[in-house]
Amino acid sequence: MSLESSPDILIHVDRLLPQIRRRLDETHDRIRDVVFDTVFADYSIKKVFKNADIQYSTMCGAVVKNILNALQEPYDDINLMAIGNVDLPGFITPLVHGLIKRAHKYAETWIRSQGHLGLGYDISAQGYKPAREMALKNWNRYYGFADYTVESDPQDGSTPEETPSIDENLMSVLSENSTITPGGMHAISVMCTAFNKIAEEKGLKKRYIYPDNSFETWKAIARNSTTKDPGKFNQIRTEQKDRLHLTPEKVHEFYDANDTEGVDDTWYITPVGNPSGTAMSDTQLTATCEAIIARNPNATIILDCVYVRTLETGTAKKLMSGVLSSPEIMKRVVFIESLSKTHGIPGLRLGMFFSSNKELYDSIQNFDMTGYVCHSHELSALMMAFMENPEDTEKAFKELHRFWGRERKGLFNFLIKSGRFTDLFDKDQSHIIPEQIDDPLGLYLFVKIKPGVTRMQIYSQTGCIGVPTKMDTGMYMRFSVGQIKEPTYAKYL
Ligand SMILES: Cc1ncc(COP(=O)(O)O)c(C=O)c1O
Repeated sequence: MSLESSPDILIHVDRLLPQIRRRLDETHDRIRDVVFDTVFADYSIKKVFKNADIQYSTMCGAVVKNILNALQEPYDDINLMAIGNVDLPGFITPLVHGLIKRAHKYAETWIRSQGHLGLGYDISAQGYKPAREMALKNWNRYYGFADYTVESDPQDGSTPEETPSIDENLMSVLSENSTITPGGMHAISVMCTAFNKIAEEKGLKKRYIYPDNSFETWKAIARNSTTKDPGKFNQIRTEQKDRLHLTPEKVHEFYDANDTEGVDDTWYITPVGNPSGTAMSDTQLTATCEAIIARNPNATIILDCVYVRTLETGTAKKLMSGVLSSPEIMKRVVFIESLSKTHGIPGLRLGMFFSSNKELYDSIQNFDMTGYVCHSHELSALMMAFMENPEDTEKAFKELHRFWGRERKGLFNFLIKSGRFTDLFDKDQSHIIPEQIDDPLGLYLFVKIKPGVTRMQIYSQTGCIGVPTKMDTGMYMRFSVGQIKEPTYAKYL
């Protein structure tokens, strides 16, 4: 990974270098240890990045590399893998730049075709219908939407007797009930606000339930959306044997201990995980959702699928099949999708939410519309450019996922399998199973740390700058390979 030297980084380098030189004159400690210790203990950096450990680790790692460079010490083996960002490898950047150009053309064509309203608000507030259709058609390769039907709701204003529900193709229902958003996190945020309000209107207490493997941003968004009343936030312990994901047993345990009277439940599930770096099995996901609705038929489930399309198409289809084929589950689920990671464009902010349950979808959409009026035309244009003609583009994106997959597996071999760091990492890494480390699967490797080992020991000995993450089963460190641009850990395959 190259040396990043922006002014924001260099300011700390200039400030800390004299202090480190002085310390080195006084000690026989390893130069690298002194540099790591001084930078990570620095109060000025800590203060700025309070409560933002990912950014803090990334900044400190960059400062360490620059200081080692100034001291003429090797730094090539230090890789910043804390932030879940993406910096695309060279083989795919021409394609991505070409698609962005194509998006500008789409935006122009659309605006012209709309006459004087072209630059006005998107009155549907859902994003262009053709863009949503293109996305779902593209994603059909991973979900298999076209293989399923759902019962449509009776039309507004008519009774169920007059308008019997009919089976409709799932894809056309989802294209109606979908909204293009500036990223998946926006969708999560709107959902939480909507769900809080719905509960309040019904006179119910809102309850959020989620596994300890949920990404920190989810926890922050849910908490920021409402007050911290007792019992509102429920984090469930997950086990390594379950690959750090929920199971039906955990759902039953929760409902055995907690009543459903007077509450409105929302579960948040990430079937392919950040931070866990693992995926649920298809039966695990289906049985978990079944258990939720068996114990509380009114619960809603946010299914955060932003990493599902990093899997191979067959693996993804199998994973999602139980949910998509169950009308009962589908009635309670809202899906979150995003191109941030699958297409390496987190800064373009492009995502979507959708549900086959029109009432549920409408309630969220209404909040999005009233709070934001609509989202930019540019997002729909981007969606069209990235999603059309998968036969021309998707092979390259799959190659990107496989590139990350090789880096993840190589990193696992380097850190764990090599046996070089047995003093740092726990012997039990049983949440990581061979078939999931052999497949492309998200961008993360999540390894369990031995009790008492510090992040500084790991950074200094392995050169891998990850983020320490506390789970109910112990401390782990999450590494993200999304900023690796050239084969690096793949050499350990
Ligand atoms: C689990 C999970 N959900 C959702 C998102 C949403 O990403 P974005 O808002 O960039 O679409 C992320 C991004 O890191 C994620 O890790």
